[in-house]
Parts: sequence; C-alpha cells; structure tokens
Amino acid sequence: MSKQLQQFIDDNLPKIEEELYDLVERIKAPETLTESMLYSLKAGGKRIRPLFVVAVCDLFHNKQHEALTVGAAVEMIHTYSLIHDDLPSMDNDDMRRGKPTNHVVFGEALATLAGDALNTLSFGVLARLENVEPLKKVELINMLSIASGAEGMVGGQVLDIDGENRRLNLSELEEVHINKTGAILRFSIESGAVLSDATKEERDALAEYAHHIGLAFQIQDDILDIVGTSEELGKTAGKDVESHKSTYPALLTLEGANAKLEEHFSLAVSALAKIRKDTSLLEEFARYIVKRTN
Ligand code: IPE
Ligand code: IPE
Ligand code: MG
Ligand code: MG
Ligand code: MG
Repeated sequence: MSKQLQQFIDDNLPKIEEELYDLVERIKAPETLTESMLYSLKAGGKRIRPLFVVAVCDLFHNKQHEALTVGAAVEMIHTYSLIHDDLPSMDNDDMRRGKPTNHVVFGEALATLAGDALNTLSFGVLARLENVEPLKKVELINMLSIASGAEGMVGGQVLDIDGENRRLNLSELEEVHINKTGAILRFSIESGAVLSDATKEERDALAEYAHHIGLAFQIQDDILDIVGTSEELGKTAGKDVESHKSTYPALLTLEGANAKLEEHFSLAVSALAKIRKDTSLLEEFARYIVKRTN
C-alpha cells in the first residue's frame, strides 16, 4: 500500500469507526439486539466503503464530517449483507472478519434481525444528516435504496445463488458482480460526489471509475477465495469451489481472472483522467483493491 493511502487510512479509520459505533450505541433497543449488531460491526473489516465516501469528499475538500456519517450508513448496509450472506440458508459460513459468524454466536433468529436492524437504521441515519439540504438527503436515500435493494445488491445475491445450480456465462456473471458487490461500492463513490457538489462531468467520471472498481473488487474476492488462506482472509477460504459457485476464476481460470482484474484497474484509472483534480489517492485506492490480500 502506498504511503499516501496508508496515511489517509490512519487519519480516517478511527473517525469512521467512532461515528459508526456511536450511531448504533445511541439507539434504544433490546440489549441483545444492540449487542448482536455491534458484534459484527466491531469484528473489524477493512471499511473500504466508508473510506471511499471520505476519499471522494476529500477530492473536493467538501463535507468531510458528513462523509463519515454517510460512510457509517453504508458500512451498516454492508455489515448487514455479510450477516445474512453467512446464514445457513445462504453461504452457511461460520467465520467472518476473523471471528465466529453472527448466527453462530447469537443464533439465526437474532442474526437475521440484527441484519434487518442495521439495514433500516442506515436509512434513518441518512434522513437525520445535519448540514445537508433535504433534497440532497432524499437523493442519497433513494440512491442507497436502489443500490442495496432488488435492483442492486439483493437482486445480485439472488442471481449469485442461481449461479450455484447452473454455470453462468461471463455476461451473466458480470451482471452478478455489478449488482451484488458493485452497486454498494458505486453508492459509496457516487454519494461522495453528491455530497460534495461534483459537476455532471465529474460525477460521470466517478461513476465510470466506480463501475470498474466494483467489478475489480469482486473479481479479487473470487481470486482470494482460491489463493488466500482462511487465516489471511478472516473468512473460510475455498467456499466458492465447495459450493460450486460461478466465479471469474471458475469461468476463466485464475490467469484469465487476473487479466480481467488488470483490465478493470486500467479502465478505473483512465476514468480518473477525466477529472481535473489531484486524483492520486483514488488511483492508489484502485491499486490497493486489485493487490489486496484480504
Ligand atoms: C466482502 O467484503 C464481501 C464482498 C462484497 C465481496 P469486504 O472484503 O469489504 O469485507 P470486510 O468489510 O473487509 O469484512
Ligand atoms: C457477498 O459475496 C456479497 C454480499 C452482498 C454480501 P460473497 O459471498 O462472495 O462474500 P464473501 O466471500 O462471503 O465475503
Ligand atoms: Mg455469497
Ligand atoms: Mg459468502
Ligand atoms: Mg466471496
């Protein structure tokens, strides 16, 4: 990881986590529910999505505090999706973020409900954002609803499950990745653009960057499932092969998947060239996404 990106993460990660925990600790809910929600949030995670919101706002030197709150909202959605993804009825995983999965500790019913509560809380967090105009908040809420729902992440998860029973072709698999993983990453990047009043051209360029980041991120996730160890990943390695998932390496071999990864990295970086600002941090971020080992 470059020094610039490491510095950025060191500066912002503690603020993101403080905001995230604070928003959840403040709610009045049954104690076991809050405990279960905080268990998965505090288990760790790279916080890539909130870091993207902050990195984009940084680019425009605008709305840095609000970026932490929007980032926390998106991390809630992401964490809820992981809790549900690990359930026995889905990927049936017993390890996540280096710890036993939520349902292993709290039982399936509470894990499902903790996911539900994180999901719904995220929209309230956006609605209560201070220092952001009401129309902009509605735009953010609408964007997150689309990105996380049937037309985005949830729809993608459904197609992903389909891919266990039959071999998807490459364009179907791309559709899965764009939705199940790409949509939330796209929200993370585009919400930063909305918050910080990017121009139409800047927003379009960031959307193009986000599209390739989303694909690259999930391709690397699929590669790591094969080349990584459970210890490094903090989640069970080899899961995709075991459940006969359609993945990039399954369809294209590891070599082919790595070539696709490089292609999307280059296209993400080319999109940044359309922005007349110092986009070096976002370029480093793209490099990290394709080189990461966990
Ligand atoms: C894992 O996401 C699930 C996918 C969408 C591929 P991350 O790799 O960002 O997981 P954490 O948040 O760091 O645990
Ligand atoms: C998860 O995809 C995507 C989500 C929306 C949660 P995976 O099933 O590949 O994620 P991991 O590998 O379990 O983290
Ligand atoms: Mg899954
Ligand atoms: Mg999974
Ligand atoms: Mg995976």
